[in-house]
Amino acid sequence: MASLPRSLAPVLFFAVLSLYASVPSAASSDGFLDCLSAAIPKQLLYTQSSPSFTSVLVSSIRNPKFSTPGTVRPLCIVTPTNASHVQATVVCGRRHDVRIRVRSGGHDYEGLSYRSERPEVFAVVDMADFRSVRVDKAAATAWVDSGATIGELYYAIGKASKQLAFSAGLCPTIGVGGHFSGGGFGMLLRKYGAAIDSVLDATLVDANGRLLDRDSMGSDLFWAIRGGGSLSFGIVLSWKVKLVPVPATVTMFSVPKPVDQGAVDILTRWQDVAPALPEDLFIRVLVQKEVANFQSMFLGTCDALLPLMRSRFPELGMNRSHCKEMTWIQSVPYIYLGSSATVEDILNRTASTSSFNKATSDYVLQAIPKDAWTKIFAWLAMPNAGLMILDPYGAKISSFPEWVTPFPHRDGVLYNIQYMNFWSATTNGGGSNQARWLKDFYAFMEPYVSKNPRQAYVNYRDLDLGKNVIVGNVSSYQAGMVWGEKYYKGNFKRLAMVKGTVDPEDYFRNEQSIPPLVASQ
Ligand SMILES: Cc1cc2nc3c(=O)[nH]c(=O)nc-3n(C[C@H](O)[C@H](O)[C@H](O)COP(=O)(O)OP(=O)(O)OC[C@H]3O[C@@H](n4cnc5c(N)ncnc54)[C@H](O)[C@@H]3O)c2cc1C
Ligand SMILES: *[C@@H]1O[C@H](CO)[C@@H](O)[C@H](O)[C@H]1NC(C)=O
Ligand SMILES: *[C@@H]1O[C@H](CO)[C@@H](O)[C@H](O)[C@H]1NC(C)=O
Ligand SMILES: *[C@@H]1O[C@H](CO)[C@@H](O)[C@H](O)[C@H]1NC(C)=O
Ligand SMILES: *[C@@H]1O[C@H](CO)[C@@H](O)[C@H](O)[C@H]1NC(C)=O
Repeated sequence: MASLPRSLAPVLFFAVLSLYASVPSAASSDGFLDCLSAAIPKQLLYTQSSPSFTSVLVSSIRNPKFSTPGTVRPLCIVTPTNASHVQATVVCGRRHDVRIRVRSGGHDYEGLSYRSERPEVFAVVDMADFRSVRVDKAAATAWVDSGATIGELYYAIGKASKQLAFSAGLCPTIGVGGHFSGGGFGMLLRKYGAAIDSVLDATLVDANGRLLDRDSMGSDLFWAIRGGGSLSFGIVLSWKVKLVPVPATVTMFSVPKPVDQGAVDILTRWQDVAPALPEDLFIRVLVQKEVANFQSMFLGTCDALLPLMRSRFPELGMNRSHCKEMTWIQSVPYIYLGSSATVEDILNRTASTSSFNKATSDYVLQAIPKDAWTKIFAWLAMPNAGLMILDPYGAKISSFPEWVTPFPHRDGVLYNIQYMNFWSATTNGGGSNQARWLKDFYAFMEPYVSKNPRQAYVNYRDLDLGKNVIVGNVSSYQAGMVWGEKYYKGNFKRLAMVKGTVDPEDYFRNEQSIPPLVASQ
């Protein structure tokens, strides 16, 4: 699908224009559904009365707190298989004042791809069946549709070559569409940057229903969609990415260090070591209860890794018995699904039953002192405590100037922190104790993390950082600055100006979409 978007674009645009003209004007849900029915095969359209409406809706909901009866549901779900279906949905939506949410993998932490906090009428465009991956091994590029999971992307690359890879997240069920829209990083981030640093081209349906590619969308819009937040600028159908070389053997290790075996000292040291290591070595830390678990991928053999660890990070006590050598594609299930998982398992789009969760994030620019780590472990030992994941930056991801893409977390960042807490449907208090712990711990961390703004990663979306306010008919730029500068720093203003140019009426919007900034404001 969409492999030659340039040649198809004019044809599709005119096809949709004639559809637009043929639809009678009526600002209503019925009018919208009639308009859709005329343009989209009926088996791709699920209204609330369709027998499979609920199963399609929940199919990729990863946070079950947003599949409860109180969640505002869409008027209908469209599952496009062709660009023209997406274009028609936008045209019909604008015609009949029905807004759209778009879902690729459904992993949004706040569920914004399929629910609205406001009681508004909206449709979901679910990209799950728009998911081909076409790898060009000779050119070391691929076109991947937004509805593919990153597991499907990695799998197709692994099939084509054992020495090509892509730099993106760890969880194989993440959707390409949402993941790329916010940056996207995983174990290759120090060697190759974030996913958006390897995007070469994209096709997108804009707020007028036009199908655009890199050339026809122009450089500002192409800049904005590479990390500038989901949905705000249009529906991205496909992405062309540059694949990256990896050696035939990579080495994985995992070294858990409890507090009574020096976790505080080792973690304190890790903050200076990990962001300064050679780019082939990535060591993240998962901190939970009284244990810091150091998880690593090295692009090379165990023999090459051991002297490096001895000279750079002897405190960790890593040795040959920790090494697990494998191919890069084998590392994908190994990291996320465990040592017994197979490469085929990364194609499984059904995630294991997830618990209810809440997350937020920080960036650390100066090493946190040792005494603070002692206190952090006390926080993690509390009842109802969650966990922290520390991803070191430095090397490639930090090498780009902040304005090269909207993703601004570059030079000077030592590491990213993700805080997460979990509970189940039957937990006492319905998760309020876990949410409270997260909020209080986040407040405790304030002196130790980035300031003015306190940076956060948009893909770890947190509506507690701020929400859009509608003023007149559009999301307010002033109100958006509260959360927007945390995610984008100085790039927020440029994003808002691009939005003001391509979607001044704010058709594509959600609780944290980029507000339009137009000259008169
Ligand atoms: C279990 C888990 C593990 C994760 N691990 C990592 C990780 O290792 N690294 C990392 O960087 N992040 C990670 N994330 C965060 C993840 O990158 C984001 O949640 C991402 O937005 C998910 O994309 P999606 O397509 O699955 O989500 P969706 O919920 O489908 O979409 C997320 C947002 O993007 C918008 N969107 C989706 N598709 C499109 C499109 N085609 N065009 C325009 N807008 C679109 C949606 O409207 C929504 O606002 C993880 C999340 C989870 C739940
Ligand atoms: C997509 O839709 C267009 C226009 O309706 C049509 O010409 C084309 O054949 C369709 N492509 C596929 C793969 O169905
Ligand atoms: C390797 O380290 C582990 C502890 O992490 C230790 O139990 C083991 O004895 C060490 N092995 C060697 C060969 O030093
Ligand atoms: C896919 O994963 C789910 C959840 O872990 C599991 O229940 C299911 O059996 C898996 N399906 C296949 C085909 O492996
Ligand atoms: C909002 O939009 C409606 C109809 O689209 C229009 O009548 C109204 O004047 C607009 N309000 C403002 C404040 O722009």
